[in-house]
Amino acid sequence: MNSTEDHTQMLSSRGYVTTPIAEGLDYVAEIKRLKKEKNAVLLAHYYQEDAIQDLADFLGDSLYLAQAAAEVDADVIVFAGVHFMAETAKIINPTKKVLLSDLKAGCSLADSCPPQDFAAFKAQNPDAVVVTYINCSAEIKALSDLVCTSSNAKKIIESIPKDQQIIFAPDKHLGRYLIKETGRDMLLWDGSCVVHEAFSFEKIIQLVKQYPKAKFIAHPESPEDILAIAHFIGSTSKLIDFAITDDTNEFIVATEAGILHEMNKRAPNKTFIPAPVDDDTCACSECAFMKLNTLEKLYRCLAFEQPEIQLDQALMSQARLPIERMLTLSK
Ligand code: 13P
Ligand code: SF4
Repeated sequence: MNSTEDHTQMLSSRGYVTTPIAEGLDYVAEIKRLKKEKNAVLLAHYYQEDAIQDLADFLGDSLYLAQAAAEVDADVIVFAGVHFMAETAKIINPTKKVLLSDLKAGCSLADSCPPQDFAAFKAQNPDAVVVTYINCSAEIKALSDLVCTSSNAKKIIESIPKDQQIIFAPDKHLGRYLIKETGRDMLLWDGSCVVHEAFSFEKIIQLVKQYPKAKFIAHPESPEDILAIAHFIGSTSKLIDFAITDDTNEFIVATEAGILHEMNKRAPNKTFIPAPVDDDTCACSECAFMKLNTLEKLYRCLAFEQPEIQLDQALMSQARLPIERMLTLSK
């Protein structure tokens, strides 16, 4: 089989219409044209490749993208992110067409929390309020009282009465960080993100010595030892805001490397260094799921309106409640 056949087979296995595309097609121009023609909006996360970020109508962190999905007045929402993000957009907009450029764009954190196991954990602690990080499946959201993102997690937890027991899932690192931040003793699910767990503590220390004037900033999905040495901890949007407004000119950044694009755009005179990972094959941490989205797939997705997020109505109704509570508490 030649490489073109391989490529076509891969696309077909992921639910794409594999109609051949004219060679040399200008994907950027075509995506812009199709967005207009179909009254579609493109929502993209900071971990997307640079060209996709530049094409987005809404570019942001998980909270901003959920808020945008709740407010957009478009017939079609195209998500350049991962499955749980597109799923959340669909849950908020059950009658709209929500497209994801690759249905295999999953999330290790969401995968670390299987619904059956989580239901059993919840049943062992029937009096606990269940707060779940948005990085989880619709089934897990349906088992939750409140959803949160890294931008609003502290506020969401602080909205719960002090004597109320809380289950926090699925990210144990974010959970541990929030226990410290809020003083609440939460029951944690043992999940994590492969991208943030890949950082090398030793290599970061070496880099900090190499750049003594730099501030080290980290996403709260990072492990405890990494967070312990950070000058600032925050969601992707908070990391960007900090890097832009702080007096420092050099930053070592511990989150997915796609975020550097927006940092470089908004503060072109500052230096942003991606935190190194514990792997000799690559220098920085990239989310392989996020990077499954490409310009070609986005073009195909808009042109043929496939693959589409399809969810059971009853599941969506159950999963919508904790998301709506989060959106109301975040206003
Ligand atoms: P935020 O953009 O909300 O900080 O989330 C980071 C992340 O890992 C998304 O998968
Ligand atoms: Fe999931 Fe981690 Fe990728 Fe975010 S960076 S989508 S949490 S695997």
